[in-house]
Amino acid sequence: MRAADISDDLTDVLATEEEILAKLDEVAAAVAADYEGKDLVLVGVLKGAIMVMADFSRALPTLVPMDWMAVSSYGAGTKSSGVVQIRKDLDTDLSGKHVLIVEDIIDSGLTLSWLLENFSSRGAASVEVFALFRKPDAAKVEVHCRYVGFDIPNDFVVGYGLDYDERYRNLRDVAVLAPHVYS
Ligand code: XMP
Ligand code: MG
Repeated sequence: MRAADISDDLTDVLATEEEILAKLDEVAAAVAADYEGKDLVLVGVLKGAIMVMADFSRALPTLVPMDWMAVSSYGAGTKSSGVVQIRKDLDTDLSGKHVLIVEDIIDSGLTLSWLLENFSSRGAASVEVFALFRKPDAAKVEVHCRYVGFDIPNDFVVGYGLDYDERYRNLRDVAVLAPHVYS
């Protein structure tokens, strides 16, 4: 479904599916060049990163292994608690691997800074981040993010894997959730 189908729930459309897919092609070309000849593994953060992982991994020109981690710091609200809990750990041994974390969005940065520390302690050769969206004005900790899709305003957004209370993940576009939906 598209943003126009549920326009009452949304305000601004920040990125259409077409714009997202074009961006993923750009980032995939950069990643392919940067990691040529390296033992790369993509690690997606469930559940928000499912769509970006699906489309980004297929935009790459080579086969690449992927693994998933489930963490939570949010519950049903719209603000980070800062407390990160592992709900599903990786199946892959990261030692000696070049890890690229694939994230839907960096908000406060708390989840990612925790993940970066956690992965480095597992002996990865390198750990970098690709975040499709980033909210620069929401940062509580600085996180080095090598690849960023779009910088967006500090509003709660949904679509393309991003949810509010498990809804809106299958919206193809990414849009700002209208405040009346959650207040
Ligand atoms: P932090 O604040 O730790 O947030 O950087 C990380 C995770 O929180 C979720 N998140 C959002 N989900 N709309 C959403 O649907 C948003 O605007 C939003 N901001 C943060 C997301 O899962 C992210 O990985
Ligand atoms: Mg997430």
